[in-house]
Amino acid sequence: MHVAIIMDGNGRWALRRGRARGAGHAHGARAVRAATEAAVSAGIETLTLYAFSSDNWARPAGEVSSLMRLFRRYLKVETKRCLLNDVRVNVIGRRDRLDFSLLRAIERCERLTQSGRALTLRIAIDYSSRYNILAAARSLGDLRGRSEQDLSKALDVVSHSAVEAGPVDLLIRTGAEQRLSDFLLWECAYAELYFTDCMWPDFDGDVFRRALGAYARRERRFGRLAPAVGEECAKAAAPSAAPLRETVSA
Ligand code: FPP
Repeated sequence: MHVAIIMDGNGRWALRRGRARGAGHAHGARAVRAATEAAVSAGIETLTLYAFSSDNWARPAGEVSSLMRLFRRYLKVETKRCLLNDVRVNVIGRRDRLDFSLLRAIERCERLTQSGRALTLRIAIDYSSRYNILAAARSLGDLRGRSEQDLSKALDVVSHSAVEAGPVDLLIRTGAEQRLSDFLLWECAYAELYFTDCMWPDFDGDVFRRALGAYARRERRFGRLAPAVGEECAKAAAPSAAPLRETVSA
């Protein structure tokens, strides 16, 4: 199962406590650890977290640089924990605009955790779905005769996805907002969407389990009819078992 999360609400979480936005991001990093551990316990194969969108570069320079520092520190500190939990880390998104020290931390963490089998944790940094779709289409050149799988593979290449993560089954967004914000647009074609008012720093195993519970109650139809409706239709279309009584006129 592939779960993706838009981690929203760090700033509001901090402001409500009279603290600077950076405190919200720092607590958000702890929630990343909680989400990862909950995903491992639930047997999720892939967890993709939206940490920094390509549009987030437009935030004040101080916030951007403190987020980049936080990502670097997280990758350094959490590598050991990921190894212990058998978690493979993969950072997806553009790499050409990242600082050299962050790039080094990404490459080190990815190299050391590459044999993790319990969970693939994908962290999206400088990520834009529309950018990736365009770059993937361009990389294929002439699109005539190309399949959906060809585009999916090209998307993995341009976004530095080290594993074939496949379609998203469940997309969670915290922070009381209900939009996709240019995240995994191709991969979310049939994702079940779950929105919660919980601000990201408050996210924990309980919130995760509630989302998974809601997902388990959904009926995924992929454009087909619900089984009960399908049976009704089949019955109605089948020739009747009882022979038609002919009306003989006297
Ligand atoms: C959105 O909340 C959050 C972000 C843009 C940053 C996400 C970063 C983290 C969760 C920090 C740790 C991540 C890792 C991978 C270590 P917001 O700041 O837009 O919140 P707001 O809508 O309340 O202002």
